Amino acid sequence: MSTDTTPTTTRAHAREASTPGSEWWRSAVIYQIYPRSFADASGDGIGDLAGVTERLPSLAALGVDAVWLSPFFRSPQKDAGYDVADYCDVDPIFGTLADFDALRDRAHELGLRVIVDLVPNHSSSEHPWFQEALAAGPGSPERDRYMFRDGKGEHGELPPNNWPSVFGGAAWTRVTEANGEPGQWYLHIFDSSQPDFNWKNPVVWEEFRRILRFWLDRGVDGFRVDVAHGLMKKEGLPDIADAAGSDNIADALMSPEDVPYWAQPAVHEVYRDWHQVLAQYEGDRVLCAEAWVEPLSKAALWVRSDEMHQAFNFSYLSTPWNAAKLRAVIDESIDAFTGVGAPSTWVLSNHDVVRHASRYGLPEHTAGPNAGIGPNSPDKPDAALGLRRARAATALMLSLPGSAYLYQGEELGLPEVIELDDHVREDPTFHRTGGEAYGRDGCRVPIPWEADAPAFGFNDTGSSWLPQPEVFGEYARDRQEGVEGSTLELYRSALDIRARRELGVGSVEWLDGYGEEVVAYRNGGLTIIANLGSTPVELPAGDVLLASNAIDGRAVPADTTVWIA
Ligand code: NOJ
Repeated sequence: MSTDTTPTTTRAHAREASTPGSEWWRSAVIYQIYPRSFADASGDGIGDLAGVTERLPSLAALGVDAVWLSPFFRSPQKDAGYDVADYCDVDPIFGTLADFDALRDRAHELGLRVIVDLVPNHSSSEHPWFQEALAAGPGSPERDRYMFRDGKGEHGELPPNNWPSVFGGAAWTRVTEANGEPGQWYLHIFDSSQPDFNWKNPVVWEEFRRILRFWLDRGVDGFRVDVAHGLMKKEGLPDIADAAGSDNIADALMSPEDVPYWAQPAVHEVYRDWHQVLAQYEGDRVLCAEAWVEPLSKAALWVRSDEMHQAFNFSYLSTPWNAAKLRAVIDESIDAFTGVGAPSTWVLSNHDVVRHASRYGLPEHTAGPNAGIGPNSPDKPDAALGLRRARAATALMLSLPGSAYLYQGEELGLPEVIELDDHVREDPTFHRTGGEAYGRDGCRVPIPWEADAPAFGFNDTGSSWLPQPEVFGEYARDRQEGVEGSTLELYRSALDIRARRELGVGSVEWLDGYGEEVVAYRNGGLTIIANLGSTPVELPAGDVLLASNAIDGRAVPADTTVWIA
C-alpha cells in the first residue's frame, strides 16, 4: 500500500497535569477509526493497525486532537469486534500488541491522543469465561459471571422474560447442558454470540479494573465505553410492560424509561469505581459513554464529576435539519452537560448510523442506530442535497463549544453505501431481522484514499471485505487534497480556525433577527450563520473565514453555514 506523504506539523504530546477545567478532552476533536475499514497494510481486505499507523500523518494534518479506535481485540468478529474473546490482546486480523504499541507511539509523536473501545456489557461467547460457564453447569460460580436463568413453562422451554434483542429476535438463548438435554437460558441484549455479564458479581468488577489498568499501563489516553447504559439489569428481570420494543428496535433503544435493561441507577457505581482507577494515572485520561439515553438531562448523569468525562450527544445526532430544533438541542445540551460540570459533545456520524451525508438527503431521516438503508428502502437519499446539508451541519457542529466526534470518511463527504448485495452484508441486525433492517454495513465500507489505486488505496491488493462502489473514487482523499471547496479542505479549514479561535472552549451567544430558519450566534469573536431555509440571508459586515458552500456576494444561500470574523 502506498504511504502517506502528507506533511504534518508535530504538536508535542503533553502528559502533564492540567488545571481542573482545562483538560484536553473538554474541547477535543476526536476522530473515530473503524479499523476494519480504515487502511489495510496486510492486503487481506480487512484493515489493520499497521495500516492505521501508516495513515496517521493524514489525521494529524487534518487537525484532529485524538483518535478513537473501534475494537481490535481478539474476537470471532460476529459483531465486527464488539464481541470480545480476549480484552488484553489484539486479534490477528488487526495485528499484534507490538503493532498497537507502534500505533500509540506514532500517534503520540504526532500529538494525537489514543482512545480505545471498552466493551463491558457483554463478551464473546468464545470468551474463556463463557466457555467455562457452559461447562460448569447451573448454579456454578462460572455461570454467575453471566446472566443465566431457568426458562419458564413446564419444561423451561420458554425464555425467562419477554426482552427483545437490540439486533432483533429474543434476548435469550437456551443452552444444551453437559447431559445433552436443553437447559438454562442466557441473556444477550445484542447477538446470541454476545452474552451479557452479571455486573452484580464482584468478580466482573475486578476483571474490568484489570482490563482498564492493562490499557492504561500501555499508554492509552482513554476509553470509549460501549453500551454504557446497559450493564445493570433491573432486579428480578421483569418483563417489559409493553413489548412494543420488539417491533421497533430503535425506539426501544431510545426509551430507557420503559426498558429494564437500560439506565438502571446502579450502573453509576461502576463508573464511580472506574473514575478512581483512571485518577491514579497521570495525564487526564478520559472515559466517554456510549449511552443512548434521552433526554439530555438523563445522559448528563453519566458525566457527573465523579463518573465519566464525556457522553456522546445522540440527541444532537438525531436532530433533523431544522433550525428551531437545532437551536433547542444546542441549548439543552449546553445546559444539561455544563449543569454537571462536563463539556457538551457533538456528533453527526458513527459506525452505527446512516452517514449524515446521506441522512440529510432523505425526506424523513431517522438517525436511530442499526436500521440502515438499502436497495428496497422506501426513500433514496438525494446525494447532492445530502452532501450540501452535511457540510453545513458539520460547519455548524465544529463551531460549537465542547468536544466533537468525527467518523472516518465524513471528512471526504462519503455517502452511505446503499447498493450492497444481501450476501455481502455482515451486520447481525440484517440477519436477525430476516433482512427487515438493513443494518450498518453501508456506513462501514472501506474508505477511499487514492482514486486510481487498487481498492482506492485502502490496500494495494484491491481486496475489500465489503465491496467499494465506483463512486468512492470521486470522494478519494487524493482528489480533494488542496482542492479549494472540497469537503476535505472544508474540514481542514474548520478545524484550523476552531483551534486558533479556541471555539471549543467558547460559548454560544445567540443572535436574534435572522428569522426562524436560521441558526445564528457568536463564539470566539466569530459570527456563525447557518441558513436552513430557502431564502438567502444577508451577511453581516466582516470577513468570511469559512463557508460550507459557495456564497453569492453577501448572501448566504440555503443549506449553508458561514463563519464571519
Ligand atoms: C454499540 C456499538 O457501537 C455497536 O457497534 C455494537 O454492535 C453494540 N454496541 C454492541 O456492542
